[in-house]
Amino acid sequence: MAIIPSDQQPPPRPGTKPPAQPRLVAPQQQAQDISENSLRPRELKDYLGQSELKQSLGIAVAAARQRAEALDHMLFYGPPGLGKTTISMLIASEMGTQIRITSAPALERPRDIAGLLVSLQPGDILFIDEIHRLNKVAEEILYPAMEDFMLDITIGKGQAARIKRLPLKPFTLIGATTRAGAISAPLRTRFGLVQRLRFYTAEEMQAILLKNAQILQIQLLPDGAEAIARRARGTPRVANRLLKWVRDYAQVHAAAAIDAQVAAAALDMLQVDHAGLDPVDRQILSTLLLNYQGGPVGIDTLAAAISEDVATIEDMIEPFLMQCGFLQRTPRGRVATALAAEHLGLDPRLAAAATLPLFEDLSLE
Ligand SMILES: Nc1ncnc2c1ncn2[C@@H]1O[C@H](COP(=O)(O)OP(=O)(O)O)[C@@H](O)[C@H]1O
Ligand SMILES: [Mg+2]
Repeated sequence: MAIIPSDQQPPPRPGTKPPAQPRLVAPQQQAQDISENSLRPRELKDYLGQSELKQSLGIAVAAARQRAEALDHMLFYGPPGLGKTTISMLIASEMGTQIRITSAPALERPRDIAGLLVSLQPGDILFIDEIHRLNKVAEEILYPAMEDFMLDITIGKGQAARIKRLPLKPFTLIGATTRAGAISAPLRTRFGLVQRLRFYTAEEMQAILLKNAQILQIQLLPDGAEAIARRARGTPRVANRLLKWVRDYAQVHAAAAIDAQVAAAALDMLQVDHAGLDPVDRQILSTLLLNYQGGPVGIDTLAAAISEDVATIEDMIEPFLMQCGFLQRTPRGRVATALAAEHLGLDPRLAAAATLPLFEDLSLE
């Protein structure tokens, strides 16, 4: 079944197997999110939720302004689509500085990162997405740059090699990652502020949806927004995508406005259930419950059982299932809870003892 709106979908070449459908509820950026920038809040007051984060930032920004210095280096972590890139852009506009946006895989060669560092103006923000993927050489260039605003470059080779230090303009590095645990300790300790982004509440999601419906000139009623919000996995990026899908659906069905009924009908078509779970999520839980007595099951086994790769499961799928209380990560593997069994309409006794010690590999502690 077509999951993304047809105008975004490339026609399959004749005789080729169509590629696997991207999941509409997947939090990572997809081709159809290309218009995402139009929905990115331009002012801090439009960045809803994440009050803890905004509070810490307010203090950091005010202090840096008073001292007329660059902001402390910051690390934002948490699942995709929660607003890490957006908040970084807002910080730049609050500080009245430029932001240079890049991502770790684009910084493969030493000269990539050195070139960027040299080009920064005083107070500029360098935003590195997926910072856990930086290679060792790039990281080592960053250490003195972050600490002393110095760029160490090696001149010559072998015995004749020597290091020359070039001064840099004071700048702020903002790193974003879905995997705080994968960042090396020396890099992590060089960030002054480390903040986790949280899933949004249903109310926050509803407010974001109503605001974005206005921007997109969609007739969205409060109960329609509530219905979408509940299924949007606490993730604004997913909410925006579902909103666009529901808009298309309403248009085709000539619905004047989007109320709870229209929204539910549109989302049912995608097989996104009332908790926001899609078939892949449900497959993980039912595999655990029906094939492995609820677990614990090692992540590799689970990945093989449902033909997904480990990183996708860990970064894109599990955080939300854990947030819902449907899945736990334990030292011995993944466990489905009684709540998950109930959600799927299965016997809760299928779940493993749900009281195993928790460990949360997104946290830094
Ligand atoms: N706090 C927020 N308030 C309103 N919209 C948000 C918020 N955070 C994120 N969004 C929306 O979600 C989209 C994805 O956010 P983004 O910053 O790209 O996520 P991340 O970088 O964490 O993957 C943005 O385009 C924006 O429309
Ligand atoms: Mg991002």
